[in-house]
Amino acid sequence: MSTALRMPAPDEAALDPDAIHSDAIHSDAIHSDALHPDAMRQPLPDAWYCVGRSDALKAGALRAVELNGEQIVLGREASGAPFALRDRCPHRGMALSKGRFDGDALTCPFHGWRFGTDGRCRDVPTLSARDNADFSRIAVQRFPIRESAGFAWVNPYLGPPTGSPAAALPELGFAPAGCVVVELVVEASFDLTTLSLVDPGHVAFVHDSWWFRPSKELREKVKTFTPTPHGFTMTSHATTTSSPVYRLLGGAPSVEIEFRLPGVRLERIEAGTKRVANYTFATPLTQNRTMLTNALYWNMPALNLLKPIARPLMRQFLTQDQQVLQHAQAGLDRKPTMVLFGQGDLPSQWYFRLKREALQAAREGRDFVTPLATQELRWRS
Ligand code: FES
Ligand SMILES: [Fe+2]
Repeated sequence: MSTALRMPAPDEAALDPDAIHSDAIHSDAIHSDALHPDAMRQPLPDAWYCVGRSDALKAGALRAVELNGEQIVLGREASGAPFALRDRCPHRGMALSKGRFDGDALTCPFHGWRFGTDGRCRDVPTLSARDNADFSRIAVQRFPIRESAGFAWVNPYLGPPTGSPAAALPELGFAPAGCVVVELVVEASFDLTTLSLVDPGHVAFVHDSWWFRPSKELREKVKTFTPTPHGFTMTSHATTTSSPVYRLLGGAPSVEIEFRLPGVRLERIEAGTKRVANYTFATPLTQNRTMLTNALYWNMPALNLLKPIARPLMRQFLTQDQQVLQHAQAGLDRKPTMVLFGQGDLPSQWYFRLKREALQAAREGRDFVTPLATQELRWRS
């Protein structure tokens, strides 16, 4: 089986590099008669996106976030329940996040209209008792919000129900003794940023820090990938990697790396009862700005001592991605095509297949059916 999306004729390749590209993304991944051509270029509309740490939502405080071009105000009721509303007062468009929240209702700072956390208007204090204008029909758009793995997640989808459940939220699966979170904004599209989560080919070139990759040599890798709900998982037991991060765990850990729509990478490392989880989430802020959130959790209290070391290393790692992604985005802005080539790029092709299937399942009102099969991949890194 050819692993390039379209292989050029031998004499064509060198002469016209564009000929290789062309159908690369379009024919197999993006173009599909059943879907609006723009749909594949946008982040999945009906999906859960990380909007920051749970503990950033303090009772009584409001927090403004951006999600897929939408301004959203987040908060936590006195009862502890989080909420997410469009950050826009229907009266004159004022940002509600600039107003007050008493644990029960938000007050717009412009003319004092009050809204419940369900978005319904509760009071227009400037109305005369003799004015019979009815404010009960006024409402702010409300978005579903959940909490999982220490983060808040919002689904920004506003269309009719699709009958096709979105990918499940990431869960942690153990009680963490500690956690370090690093967030970084990348000036690149959601797709380009998300591809970096499934791209084994960039690791040797981008993440070449001594503490992560002590050896500079490229080595042959063989891994088995299996389809998992809304994604795929790479499993390896008794890893022989010489990375000091794994060595810290002692023994031979097993490592499982799951990718899941819309842009979630879950790396789980186990050695006996020891657990480390390294989760990365991509969140579309605007068309060309994406938030990368990297959370490292562990269940051994002794590792808490490493927190001050872990944070700058994680930031360095994420910054390495940020820098190349921003330069690559500039290249894609000049010419928006990619060549997905060789087995190392198959996970990137799978990302587009998964996304297309999610869009088609939603359009047809049916369950997601994985388009992937178990497969062994070989690459050098
Ligand atoms: S803009 Fe919000 S009350 Fe007027
Ligand atoms: Fe990376």
